[in-house]
Amino acid sequence: MDKQRCAARFTGKAWGVAGFLACTVAMALAGPAEAARAAKYTGKGELRMPGDYRQWVFVGAPVTPHDMNNGKAAFPEFHHVYIDPASFAAYRKTGKFPNGTVIVKELANVGAKSSASGNGYFAGEFIGVVATVKDAKRFAKEPGNWAYFSFTGADGKALASAKAHATADCNVCHQQNAGEDWVFTQHYPVLRAAKPAK
Ligand code: HEC
Repeated sequence: MDKQRCAARFTGKAWGVAGFLACTVAMALAGPAEAARAAKYTGKGELRMPGDYRQWVFVGAPVTPHDMNNGKAAFPEFHHVYIDPASFAAYRKTGKFPNGTVIVKELANVGAKSSASGNGYFAGEFIGVVATVKDAKRFAKEPGNWAYFSFTGADGKALASAKAHATADCNVCHQQNAGEDWVFTQHYPVLRAAKPAK
C-alpha cells in the first residue's frame, strides 16, 4: 500500500497516531514482500524456474523460425516474453526496470505453416524457457546487473533451477544490441506503450 492511499484510508476515520502507525507497519510489510516477489533461488544460488509466469504480463512475441535461419535458429522458434507484474507496474510509473525485474522468454516450435486464416507460422509445442534477472546486489559483477538463465538441461529436459550463464554467453549480445537497459524493447510493443512520456 502506498503512503497516500494508506493515509486516505486512516485519516478519514480520524485515527491520528494509530492510523499513522498502521500505515507505517503496512508499508514496512509490503516492502520486503514485494522485493522478494519474482526471483527465488535455491540454497546453491540457482534461480528457481518461475512457476507462474504465464500469469505475468505478456510483452511481445518474436519469431525466429528454423526455415529462415538455415534450420538452426539460436532460440527456436516462437518467443513468448513475459515480465513479472510488480516490475511492469514500476516500469509504467518510472520508465525504468527496477531491481528484481524478471523477464521470461518461453520457446515454442512452429507447429504449422497454414491455417484457416492463411499461410504463416503457428505455434506448436512448448520446448524451453530462458530468463533474465536484474539485481544490483546479487549480480553486481554482471554488466547492467543482468544475469541470464536457461531452464533446459543437456539432455533437453526441463530444469527446476539453473545457474547463471557466463557473461559472454548472453549478456554481451544484449548489452550491444538491446533497445533499452539490456532488454530488447524494440521488439516489445507492450513495453513501449507502457513507458511514460517524458
Ligand atoms: C546474439 C545475440 C543474443 C545472445 C547471444 C543472447 N540473446 Fe537473448 N535475446 C536476443 C534478442 C535479439 C532478443 C529479443 C528478440 C528475440 O527474442 O529474438 C533476446 C531476448 C531475450 C530475452 C527476453 C528479454 C529481453 O532481454 O529482451 C531473454 C530472457 C533472453 N534473451 C535470454 C537469453 C539467454 C539466457 C541467453 C544466453 C543463453 C541469451 N539471451 C543470449 C539476442 C541474444
